[in-house]
Amino acid sequence: MAAALELIGMHAAYGRIEVLHGVDLVVPEASVFALLGPNGAGKTTTLKTIDGRLRPTRGCIHVAGTHVNGAAPDALARAGVISIPEGRGIFPNLTVAENVRMMTYAGRSADEVEDVAFGRFPILGERRKQVAGTLSGGQQQMLAMARALSSNPSLLLVDELSMGLAPLIVAELYEVLAQLATDGVAILLVEQFARTALAIADYAAIMVQGKVQHVGQPADLADVVSEAYLGATA
Ligand SMILES: Nc1ncnc2c1ncn2[C@@H]1O[C@H](COP(=O)(O)OP(=O)(O)O)[C@@H](O)[C@H]1O
Ligand SMILES: [Mg+2]
Repeated sequence: MAAALELIGMHAAYGRIEVLHGVDLVVPEASVFALLGPNGAGKTTTLKTIDGRLRPTRGCIHVAGTHVNGAAPDALARAGVISIPEGRGIFPNLTVAENVRMMTYAGRSADEVEDVAFGRFPILGERRKQVAGTLSGGQQQMLAMARALSSNPSLLLVDELSMGLAPLIVAELYEVLAQLATDGVAILLVEQFARTALAIADYAAIMVQGKVQHVGQPADLADVVSEAYLGATA
């Protein structure tokens, strides 16, 4: 069976400045893959290139065995590729329900996306009329996840989920991701800080200066992570 995601020698650039210099990565089906690395390594750029916000300049992107280089974000979304971007990508001035209903762009009806989102996160259903920007940080991240899940992804890309959240909340949200992987969703999780991400990951890799430097199971990478470039907080 084809992997959920395969990157083969992927390059990407902003204008003339290349920031990804040949990224190779395989995310098996129904697994959590943690992509770690210091600030500026190219983690976000990798996700943007996969979800269609940025076009790779060289190399191949395969989603479930299909070549998808250059596909637009909405086409990728319909094919099951959904991103939770850095900063969550929710609309703070709109209500919880309005944020969720926007996800109909991936092909489901408004009722369906609400059912999925509020079924998974009942607290959001209780707050459906609340303006999203007034939710707690953890609930805002939950809303971002609810939006992503409402369109039934097969490959979920998550950028810096833990940013600005208390460790306990992060652990709770990671539990939801781990459960999703058990249900069959492949998850590519990007984090600068490693410990919590490694706790739920099946595989991990470290990206440095636009390349993947180490790949393995979390236990194999623990040493590299704790010494090297991720710092004492990792
Ligand atoms: N929109 C952009 N325009 C130009 N350069 C960018 C842009 N976004 C990121 N970069 C540069 O690309 C490199 C990788 O950035 P990024 O993918 O955001 O790294 P990470 O997510 O690992 O912190 C950095 O040197 C960054 O300055
Ligand atoms: Mg980033």
